Amino acid sequence: MATFTTHEHDVLVIGAGGAGLRAAIEASAAGVNVAVVTKSLLGKAHTVMAEGGMAAAMGNVDDRDNWKVHFADTMRGGQYLNQWRMAEHHAKEAPDRVRELEAWGAVFDRTKDGKILQRNFGGHRYPRLAHVGDRTGLEMIRTLQDHGVHKGITFYMEQTTFRLLKDGDRIAGAFGYDRERGRFHAWKAKAVILATGGIGRAFKITSNSWEYTGDGQSLAYHAGAELLDMEFVQFHPTGMVWPPSVRGILVTEGVRGEGGVLKNSEGKRFMFDDIPDNYKSSTATDPEEGWRYVTGDKNAKRPPELLTRDHVARCIRREVKAGRGSPHGGVFLDVAWIKEKIPNSQEHIKKKLPSMYHQFKALADIDITTEPMEVGPTTHYMMGGVRVDPDSQMSPTVPGLFAAGEVAAGLHGANRLGGNSLSDLLVFGKRAGEYAAKYAKDQKPVSHLESEIEAIAKEALAPFDRDPKEGPYQVQYELQDMMQDLVGIVRVEDEMKQALAGIAKLRERAAVVGVTSHREYNPGWHTALDLDNLLTVSEAITLSAIERKESRGGHFRDDFPAKDPEYGKFNIVLKKAADGSMSLRRETPPPMREDLKAIVEEQK
Ligand code: FUM
Repeated sequence: MATFTTHEHDVLVIGAGGAGLRAAIEASAAGVNVAVVTKSLLGKAHTVMAEGGMAAAMGNVDDRDNWKVHFADTMRGGQYLNQWRMAEHHAKEAPDRVRELEAWGAVFDRTKDGKILQRNFGGHRYPRLAHVGDRTGLEMIRTLQDHGVHKGITFYMEQTTFRLLKDGDRIAGAFGYDRERGRFHAWKAKAVILATGGIGRAFKITSNSWEYTGDGQSLAYHAGAELLDMEFVQFHPTGMVWPPSVRGILVTEGVRGEGGVLKNSEGKRFMFDDIPDNYKSSTATDPEEGWRYVTGDKNAKRPPELLTRDHVARCIRREVKAGRGSPHGGVFLDVAWIKEKIPNSQEHIKKKLPSMYHQFKALADIDITTEPMEVGPTTHYMMGGVRVDPDSQMSPTVPGLFAAGEVAAGLHGANRLGGNSLSDLLVFGKRAGEYAAKYAKDQKPVSHLESEIEAIAKEALAPFDRDPKEGPYQVQYELQDMMQDLVGIVRVEDEMKQALAGIAKLRERAAVVGVTSHREYNPGWHTALDLDNLLTVSEAITLSAIERKESRGGHFRDDFPAKDPEYGKFNIVLKKAADGSMSLRRETPPPMREDLKAIVEEQK
């Protein structure tokens, strides 16, 4: 018999980033017993890597901004495949969530007259990102933790959730292990909130930290939840490319928001070469016009470096492929040039971009106040994920299972605007906490089946009984290489079919990987158990990407480079079929409410 410790709570939150902490605070305030399980240490969630800011239409810098403009920008960015009800909640509620964070102690940068300062970011019509230098995510987590630790929430740190548990159809908690000693734990809970973040570690080059192995998406899928829009992966144009050990680490769009320009090895600002027709009226065609936007001239056009992320990423890829890249396979990002425009530019850059300054100094020995950086695209964000009800965040197919933040789909449609993720965490973290608490209050206690737990524990220990000749790392690396090469920034059918066949082969190998030693401090074992999550999300991305025979948002098909209006009419939904295979269907979203349609038209 497997030994495990049982814990009992009303609401179990899996993940301690912005969405998880905000959900836990809300559920706890509603008077239920709440626990948070986190794979990492409290304070170390990937949210701390979010740099540029959180988008909220407060109108502090430009009073023309309001929720309607933010809603329209978000829908346009998502190419109208967003769940419009979520985009509405987000645009309306984000300003209150930012003010609430300030009331809880977050120290935002200020305007001259003392309001929360807001900066420009790609795709946002007005300066909209409330920020703390380039450390906004860090300040968000610090504030939520400071606020949350006094709320009687129980925290389980360095614990990996291996399976969700059910009592009949409804959710009944989770089973996992602590990463230090490898001891098993079973959590009984009437409601579970997934707040586990993204999938970046399925790719070789990513800005995502080690925790982002698609756990939440995969746990939900195996428990009967649906996955939505999994083809839409965002490749951020600017990650570090050198040195190799830090390849992929985020270089915030805030650098370009502060005037940073992209150049190729010939010194050319290549982004001027390719301004899409639908952006021509809003994008600068000469550097002066673009600079005026950076300095806050309300009527100036934005620089082409701030076009949508997918477009900028593809332009960089084109330059590198054409042999006009930087020495380490990227292009140059230069913010030092602003010395021509503003006095004390070195101090200005250090003040506005302190993390970028330190990151490049410490990791690449580059002083960004005087030298250009080398940057290239990096897998950054998953727009798709667990399908949720737009009001409550509960899965429509698994009662009691909620999801918030990056693990949930819907808000961002085909592409996310920068800064909309931090506000997403707060708006939908709060909603998930509120509705999960309500749901839990109405539920009878849940029970677990000993035999089910026994089978799961046996599965978790199986790698120890197998031949370690085939280890987990080789499978993981091959998958990451393959996803990067065949299902990356530019996709074609043949390559994705190759990837699908490759995933099936890697699955066979993952089923027989073996590990040595024992359960204590054993990263090889943890990696072996992560493989199913990585393979599940990779299959989901690839299947959906093959199905969408057009280019839209983060999904670019070289064999179908145009947007196809027919494909704009549906989302792709995946579900685990009775035979264990991944079933796919197209689904037409509910028609947008007339008043919201009018807003979209008016804002065009
Ligand atoms: O570039 C950035 O700072 C990223 C922000 C975001 O993805 O929201």
